[in-house]
Amino acid sequence: MTTYFAAHSAGAARRIRIFPDRFSNRQTLVAANPLDQRLRDSSEQFEADLFEWLRIPSISSDPVHREDVRAAGNWIAQKLSAGGLEVETIETDGHPIIFAQTPAIPGAPVALVYGHYDVQPVEPLDQWKSGPFAPEIRDGNIYARGATDDKGQLLTHVESVLTWLASGEPLPLQVKFLIEGEEEVGSANLERLLPERAEQFAADVIVISDSSQYAEGQPAITYGLRGIVTFELRIDGPRQDLHSGSFGGAVTNPAIALSRLLASVVDDHGVIQIPGFYDDCQPLSECEREQLAELPQSDELFAEQIGVPALGGEAHYTALERRWARPTYDVNGLTSGHQGEGSKTIIPAQASAKISFRLVPDQDPKKIAAAFEAFLKSKLPPSVHMKLTSDHGAPGMLSRLDSPYITAAQQAIEHAFGTAPVMIREGGSIPIVTRFQEVLKADCLLLGWGLNDDNAHSPNEKFRREDFHRGIAASACLWCELGKIPK
Ligand code: BES
Ligand code: MN
Ligand code: MN
Repeated sequence: MTTYFAAHSAGAARRIRIFPDRFSNRQTLVAANPLDQRLRDSSEQFEADLFEWLRIPSISSDPVHREDVRAAGNWIAQKLSAGGLEVETIETDGHPIIFAQTPAIPGAPVALVYGHYDVQPVEPLDQWKSGPFAPEIRDGNIYARGATDDKGQLLTHVESVLTWLASGEPLPLQVKFLIEGEEEVGSANLERLLPERAEQFAADVIVISDSSQYAEGQPAITYGLRGIVTFELRIDGPRQDLHSGSFGGAVTNPAIALSRLLASVVDDHGVIQIPGFYDDCQPLSECEREQLAELPQSDELFAEQIGVPALGGEAHYTALERRWARPTYDVNGLTSGHQGEGSKTIIPAQASAKISFRLVPDQDPKKIAAAFEAFLKSKLPPSVHMKLTSDHGAPGMLSRLDSPYITAAQQAIEHAFGTAPVMIREGGSIPIVTRFQEVLKADCLLLGWGLNDDNAHSPNEKFRREDFHRGIAASACLWCELGKIPK
């Protein structure tokens, strides 16, 4: 049985603190990293490598970029194989998956590094200060699409392993890499492949750097992620757009019907109205709530940073709880009628919306999808048609907190960042993580080197140069610490 934070029956929740206990004899606990000098000497080369990779526009959702996505996969495959790893490019119905490994070390654990080489679209282009695929350094940051999500973060592990191999020091464990090109579109092909490749991908611990630190100067280990389920909802009214003078009043306007439907999903207190929606939500334990409340935070500052007059959301939960441990309903896009200059007096023939729910353990994306559809049907006026399509879904994730791998990561991070990490959850989703837990029976170690204001999925995405290099140092040290854990 997995020991979750929320199910703190054992001592786990008490033992693993949001703020880890200080180790009085830390110097003796953390081995000096034999690679530190070598890593410093290679820092320019690391950045040159990252820049080269960032120049490849690997937008997985856009068929126009199909060959670019492949090129980004080839780039990392080539990098790993030039560094001496055994590499396999696995073809799928979509974008290729790259698998690589160092030689097995008897008696030592196996770490599987997972990451993605695909990126999100770049619109609106006019808001970028430099081209999304023309990486540039400004104010100590590397700017480009994929800088933090996920090429920059993933490359930290590749560079650390290649540096180990080049140093002549024996790598203290076996490292495998599983790098895909479809994370940003739901990881369906990797999910299909996972069971048949379970032996090849087998590992004791899965290492993922595709999330964030808690704040500048405060690194973190992430023990929970939310799941997701996405939809497109289309409302069809008249056969074609109608003159709103001649017809208006006697015909249901699809834009209004859609707006009413969308608004009916959530009430004024931020509570989702779909019957059964919260049934399977794992509630937050008092213990976890108390610990989350210890993290330094200010709602006012947070609101100011994102440019809103005040925060919103579900009543009776703090902002961190709402973002990390409560489910949400969001409209991601909305289209209907005349979008051009000036006015056009019509009743639009149709209206559509892109919708997503963030889920928490143990909500089931399929069950939520069915409940959502039934709810919409029950609210739909008979004067319009509705079409609901579901895109992709993945459940939320919680990790065990009592694993020796977490202790190893805490020490590696403190060595490289100079500060012990706090334990956090995050609100984003990495669709494949729960499948790793189920199929590979290994726990995920989520070590985010990014920052919340790195503008992932948004214009001017960046990654702090310092965090890139500290990430590489922490990764190099992680292999030392993990290598000490008997298998
Ligand atoms: N790296 C993110 C996931 C993430 C975001 C983790 C924020 C922690 C904090 C990942 O690349 C991502 O964007 N995932 C998508 C998944 C979706 C497209 C299926 C997401 O969360 O929207
Ligand atoms: Mn990512
Ligand atoms: Mn992403």
